[in-house]
Amino acid sequence: MDIECIAVIGAGQMGNGIAQVAACAGYQVTMIDISDEFIERGIGTIEFSLGKLVEKGRMSQEDADAARERITTSTENSAAQEADLVVEAVPEVPDLKFSLFTELDGLCKAGAILASNTSSISIDDIAGSTERPDKVIGMHFMNPVPIMRLVEIVVGKETDEAVTQAVVVVAERMGKTALCCNDSPGFISNRLLCPMLNEAVLAYEEGIADVQAIDGIMVLGMNHPIGPLALADLVGLDTVLHIMNVLHEGFEDDKYTPAPLLEKMVAEGKLGRKSGQGFYDYT
Ligand code: CAA
Repeated sequence: MDIECIAVIGAGQMGNGIAQVAACAGYQVTMIDISDEFIERGIGTIEFSLGKLVEKGRMSQEDADAARERITTSTENSAAQEADLVVEAVPEVPDLKFSLFTELDGLCKAGAILASNTSSISIDDIAGSTERPDKVIGMHFMNPVPIMRLVEIVVGKETDEAVTQAVVVVAERMGKTALCCNDSPGFISNRLLCPMLNEAVLAYEEGIADVQAIDGIMVLGMNHPIGPLALADLVGLDTVLHIMNVLHEGFEDDKYTPAPLLEKMVAEGKLGRKSGQGFYDYT
């Protein structure tokens, strides 16, 4: 499976990072979103990130310029029709993903691989909305995409072995390590990560320690790069809540019950970095 052109659907937090690492790996990239405003914001983030990488000496200005030139943009999903691989990174709304995959199945080349960056929605359910379940797979990138080394490859029941191998090659060309797991609620990453973040929220809610102490204990004691409450803010409290609900419903086990404070903060619009307020203040 020869992959040269990649379409990324969604120019948000994850989508623009995926477009950037794909372009840096030498792929022709089309980044698609529903409005010019979202596209411009995504391109702005890519340019900022490329600038940071040049500033830190991790990339030459020439390579950064060449990567930027490999990215074209569109507000039409039909711009994905020539892609060999589509990576979807739209909001975590099941019906939105299902209808998008049905549309992509209709307009993309017969051999194109349709990948989802979903952090929690079943790859088998997404594959079921297409006539090509053998070519549907999860490519779960980590935030911030340009820095994090992992792509979690989520293999569906019907995913063709050659498709898995092809996306592993793509992830490695992007400079990432690809590690595979089978489709299951939360996959591996979020099945392990989100209960820890949720537990940190519960401990804070119960008054066991303040935010700085909880995060400091995990940073200094466990060598985590940032503490669980700062990480919840980075991931987005709405995303953490959504994943806890997926685990709770998927495993039908109350050990995954979301912390009441997590639900309260999301209801109040305190979503972490993206809203300016979470366990820390970003304003
Ligand atoms: N583009 C380019 N460079 C970037 C960048 C970006 N988007 N973000 C950070 N950097 C660079 C900085 O320039 C800096 O470079 P130097 O080390 O050369 O100075 C370096 O990364 C570190 O950045 P900062 O000094 O700003 O901040 P930091 O030391 O706290 O590191 C971090 C930032 C790498 C993100 C670190 O905090 C970290 O590893 N955090 C944990 C991230 C994590 O766990 N992500 C997974 C989340 S879970 C997920 O994504 C899956 C899901 O489904 C929920």
